[in-house]
Amino acid sequence: MKINLANIKKAINLLNKSECVAIPTETVYGIAGNAYSDLACTKIFKLKKRPKVNPLIIHYHDLRKLRNDCNLNGDFLKLYKKFCPGPITFILDLKETSKISKIATNQKSSLAVRFPKHPVTRNLLKKIKFPIAAPSANISSRVSAVTSADVKDDFGKKIKYILEGGKSSIGVESTIIDIRKKPKILRLGGLEDKLIQKILKKKITTNINPSKISAPGQFKIHYSPGIPIRLNVKKIKKGEAYLLIKKKKINKANYYFLSKEGNLNEAAKNLYSILRIIKKKNYKSIAVGKIPNKGLGKTINDRLKRAAKF
Ligand code: TXA
Ligand code: MG
Repeated sequence: MKINLANIKKAINLLNKSECVAIPTETVYGIAGNAYSDLACTKIFKLKKRPKVNPLIIHYHDLRKLRNDCNLNGDFLKLYKKFCPGPITFILDLKETSKISKIATNQKSSLAVRFPKHPVTRNLLKKIKFPIAAPSANISSRVSAVTSADVKDDFGKKIKYILEGGKSSIGVESTIIDIRKKPKILRLGGLEDKLIQKILKKKITTNINPSKISAPGQFKIHYSPGIPIRLNVKKIKKGEAYLLIKKKKINKANYYFLSKEGNLNEAAKNLYSILRIIKKKNYKSIAVGKIPNKGLGKTINDRLKRAAKF
């Protein structure tokens, strides 16, 4: 993708004034603001209609500025070296001297941090003096945005500027891992848990449905297209859209395929856009065929399960 420097400059000018802009990332688009500014962070919550208790992920270009805000440890450094920039978010201890807005963290003593890989956003992050708070660019609890058009659909004129970055290449949010003590996955995402395990060479627990919510990506209802979803469906009902992992020989107008050959990475990339298309066509509900529960299929199933709680 060609980088348009004038667009990046425009976004930076707004960010410098504590305004919010939408930015592309390889996972999903984000609503960005200066993470050191209470004003900018307040605007993010308001735009998204996001509950105040749900803290924001803070985005950095690299380790240098992160050292002002967090204590780093060996496990973190191993994963950083291997996977960053990329689709992984770390929960780390927040330093008392950090200038990160307490609105962004909801007063927590931990911080969620991420190093996005998208070249446009990396170029922007390199040029600014502050880290960026950026939750996914969708109305709270709804399907995330993977193109600038999706962001426009959700926010219209309410968002001052959308930085163009094409379609997100991964298409589902980052994997969140709490790395402060024993590594614990809090949200399945764009990086397979198996790959993380391989690098850390120790047991990783997964806690994506805790009784006490620590990452509201864990909220049971989330990622909803706003219409009912049924899972593992073999036979659809009248008026339903049918969402399938792999292209079928019989192709009807209400059949939607996440991938041609059943490739799970391609399916993840297409998931949110197809859910948005189906929603626009006014189907009453969505029936989903079985999706293999391996690789990014685990993330897809997680999102669909939460979306089905609508
Ligand atoms: O791929 C992504 O992570 C995207 C792009 C834009 O970077 N961002 C994203 O942000 O998905 P959001 O706000 O939609 O999800 C952030 C998740 C929430 O579930 C939040 O509760 C959790 O991160 N989180 C933030 N700070 C946390 C903390 N200190 N401890 C535990 N979870 C935290
Ligand atoms: Mg989100």
